Amino acid sequence: MTVGIDKIAFFAPDTYVDLTDLAQARDVDPNKYLIGIGQSEQTVVPVTQDAVTMAANAASKLLTETDRQALGMVLFGTESGVDHSKSAAVYLRSLLDLPASIRTVELKHACYGATAGLMMAKDYVTLHPEKKVLVIGSDIARYGLNTPGEVTQGGGAVAMLVSQNARILALEDDSVVKSEDAMDFWRPLYRKEALVDGHASENIYIDFFTAVFDDYQKLTGRTIEDFDALAFHLPFTKMGLKALRAVLPQANDLKQQRLLEAFEASRVYNRRVGNLYTGSLYLSLMSLLANGELPAGSRIGLFSYGSGAEGEFFAGQLMPDFDPQALQADFAQFFGQRRRVSVPAYERLFNQSLPDHDVLLDTKADSARFVLRGITHDQRQYQDRTKA
Ligand code: COA
Repeated sequence: MTVGIDKIAFFAPDTYVDLTDLAQARDVDPNKYLIGIGQSEQTVVPVTQDAVTMAANAASKLLTETDRQALGMVLFGTESGVDHSKSAAVYLRSLLDLPASIRTVELKHACYGATAGLMMAKDYVTLHPEKKVLVIGSDIARYGLNTPGEVTQGGGAVAMLVSQNARILALEDDSVVKSEDAMDFWRPLYRKEALVDGHASENIYIDFFTAVFDDYQKLTGRTIEDFDALAFHLPFTKMGLKALRAVLPQANDLKQQRLLEAFEASRVYNRRVGNLYTGSLYLSLMSLLANGELPAGSRIGLFSYGSGAEGEFFAGQLMPDFDPQALQADFAQFFGQRRRVSVPAYERLFNQSLPDHDVLLDTKADSARFVLRGITHDQRQYQDRTKA
């Protein structure tokens, strides 16, 4: 039985800032952002979107009635949850009108949460083959205006449906995990913006990748030559390139060229969306599938990293029924409809945080189906605009 990703969908708010504009405003050479960091545009998240609404906007694109009835769990990976106690997954269940008889859990481990969900989903479906699991990675990446991390912000959600006879990517059984207590990136409960030791986080990321990739090869007997593509967690796309370069000398010249081409395909969308934290690896996978021209049966290696820190390397095979055209069309529409905002407008949107008292938000400028309407009696009020 093959178990894996049967469907995948993406959502991000439709406003973005151009990083050449941001570089000029910050008096930085634009090539530092465009080449040195590897980002060209960045999603700007309005106050009317949060981890829950973005997840609902992504997941609503992929669930049929049959899927809903077969769901056994909703596993919601996020590090920008909306409540210290209440699970984002149960808000999502309610917004999507999912059956009550499903397990709804929020998972946190920095950018690794969605991968934890994917692995738990795979094990669960293996044991309960008639069931499906909705896995979410949804986040808003905030480092602060005028900080070194500002250029690596962004936001958005990826929703994945995990089932048997998956039509996109069959997940293989072998994966290798490594965890270690590290202070490379964290966000204390009282902070809206992350704290990060950026250069340390780059080094730990690469150390973790080379360690798990090495262990994976020992475990499976496979080598880099067995992969048609490697996809990475991409907090910024240069990060993945650095990791790839760390293992590229293990491959012959032709394989090196192929892996570099695949990497370029895997960062097309991330370069324009920015950091999604938990969703970044899976946006990169979508970018690879849409832009990479990989034949059916291709083996894709995936490296997931969450600061703090946890890393996992796993692999999947591209299924014969996968058709990239729908994915390409979705992204063409998304990028075609986005609105570029000026740097002052981005700064205003960035500073519009939710108050800690009741509020009714103005949602007119937000084109999404699911929005945050405000807070009443300390409770978030969500709206599905397809309902009266
Ligand atoms: N043209 C081309 N490249 C340029 C350049 C120019 N004019 N100016 C600088 N660069 C390059 C640098 O050489 C460097 O490349 P390298 O990393 O390959 O050496 C890159 O741009 C970044 O420059 P640097 O001086 O290191 O940037 P910085 O100190 O401002 O910080 C980060 C960069 C990534 C560390 C910072 O944005 C950050 O902390 N981001 C958050 C990281 C994170 O989220 N980590 C946790 C998740 S893994």
